[in-house]
Amino acid sequence: MNLHLDAQYERLLQRLEANEREFRRLGRAVWRVQEDERRRLARELHDGLGQNLTALKQHLAQVDAPLSDAARAHLDAAMALCSGALEDTRNLTRLLRPPILDDLGLEPALRWLARSFSESSGVEAVVELGELPTLDGELQTLLFRIAQEALANAARHAQARSVLLHLQQRGAELQLQVVDDGRGFEPGSAAVSGGNGLGGMRERLRLHGGRLELVAAPGRGTRLRAFVPLGAA
Ligand SMILES: Nc1ncnc2c1ncn2[C@@H]1O[C@H](COP(=O)(O)OP(=O)(O)O)[C@@H](O)[C@H]1O
Ligand SMILES: [Mg+2]
Repeated sequence: MNLHLDAQYERLLQRLEANEREFRRLGRAVWRVQEDERRRLARELHDGLGQNLTALKQHLAQVDAPLSDAARAHLDAAMALCSGALEDTRNLTRLLRPPILDDLGLEPALRWLARSFSESSGVEAVVELGELPTLDGELQTLLFRIAQEALANAARHAQARSVLLHLQQRGAELQLQVVDDGRGFEPGSAAVSGGNGLGGMRERLRLHGGRLELVAAPGRGTRLRAFVPLGAA
């Protein structure tokens, strides 16, 4: 009897595990499609709209006939609009999927991310990268997106003076840390479950067999740690 129950229990467990694996596989496939689409859109924006705007600006700059004051004012306004649209296109491209991630890989992309975070927020950012193994594109994307959201949170919520971005391998895991010395928060509070940046990170990590640890308290900064198993899939 006991043997019979044990066998049933064992089968049930195996089915649960198989379902969990299938769930993760599908979840990862959804993320992958989304990232591919973002990459495609970013390229299209850059190569299409971006290059046309650059060309338009060059044409406008070459108008050198004597112009009335009114015509000159229109031309200047058109040039300014063109520059603005070009800047918007560049920002949108980077937001969708920074080309540096595909062209140069994770480490340069993280350094670039920290630099642009500092420039736009005025908060000092220190990047420490340990010796890393070769990572596949999906893992690079995962780590980049987590760093991106954590830095966005630091810029939006922390009022920090400095932020540390740290990535290293520890045994069979990668560990990404983002630590700020800002105002901190109560990780269990209702306001926190409202946003979905942290929730999205947790979910995405889970799909890759990883996990998120959050150590924060009001007035004592925030330490976010993401663990990802190497060779997860
Ligand atoms: N580095 C941080 N410093 C202070 N508060 C933070 C930090 N990161 C997150 N929070 C708090 O946790 C909440 C939830 O964050 P998140 O899930 O990313 O959602 P959102 O950023 O859209 O508000 C934030 O609204 C903020 O109150
Ligand atoms: Mg957020």
